[in-house]
Amino acid sequence: MTLLRVENLTARYGVAQVLFGVTLDVAEGEVVALMGRNGMGKTTTVKAICRMIASEGGLSFAGQSLNGLPSHRVARLGIGLAPEGRRCFRDLTVEENLIAAAQPGAWDLISIADLFPRLGERSNQRAASLSGGEQQMLAIGRALMTNPRLLILDEATEGLAPIIRQEIWAAIARLKRETGTAILLIDKSVRELAQVSDRAVILARGETVWSGAFADITPEVSETYVGV
Ligand SMILES: Nc1ncnc2c1ncn2[C@@H]1O[C@H](COP(=O)(O)OP(=O)(O)OP(=O)(O)O)[C@@H](O)[C@H]1O
Ligand SMILES: [Mg+2]
Repeated sequence: MTLLRVENLTARYGVAQVLFGVTLDVAEGEVVALMGRNGMGKTTTVKAICRMIASEGGLSFAGQSLNGLPSHRVARLGIGLAPEGRRCFRDLTVEENLIAAAQPGAWDLISIADLFPRLGERSNQRAASLSGGEQQMLAIGRALMTNPRLLILDEATEGLAPIIRQEIWAAIARLKRETGTAILLIDKSVRELAQVSDRAVILARGETVWSGAFADITPEVSETYVGV
């Protein structure tokens, strides 16, 4: 069943239009990579889905239109976002950050600590004092604590040390394998994306220019639109 449906989405920042027709679907249990070079509209698409900015076009989740909903209602419907820039409450502890996001479901402090042992070990530490990688794990943990049906990860490995990146990719693989949560994944590491993604959607200049099975991305498509 299609969980997220985005159809011909357009959006602007003030007078500057940046999305010109983004179309993508995520089905239940599916991992979809949202790809494209810098500035092509990936984060803006995610902000529009989460209703953090206004947009026009079709936007629905589990059959319900998201148009006009405030962002906290979108979260309640089951979309959990770990945003670009890994925002969390800096003055709260790890545990307080996680609890603040909690909604009923299988994800709780114990299962998050099992997925990210570093967070369990630092539960009483202020978020501001965490390393970048630990803050990223906390951002993912906060998204999971909402017990989402769709998890959106926007640049979850950006700028992190290789060993931390590996831990995050391992966690994503485990989510896919063990929970079947649908995931919309934005990342620059194409090789790692290839290992977990079922499908890909590629944006260029605010528009969907390619979508299909991840394995069907040709070297030409990759070179033209992704830059590898
Ligand atoms: N708050 C803003 N105000 C005005 N323009 C913005 C704003 N945020 C982004 N943009 C512009 O919108 C376009 C799309 O940006 P967006 O952040 O969605 O790209 P992206 O694909 O996520 O890029 P990256 O890979 O660098 O994260 C860019 O041209 C960017 O400069
Ligand atoms: Mg971005």
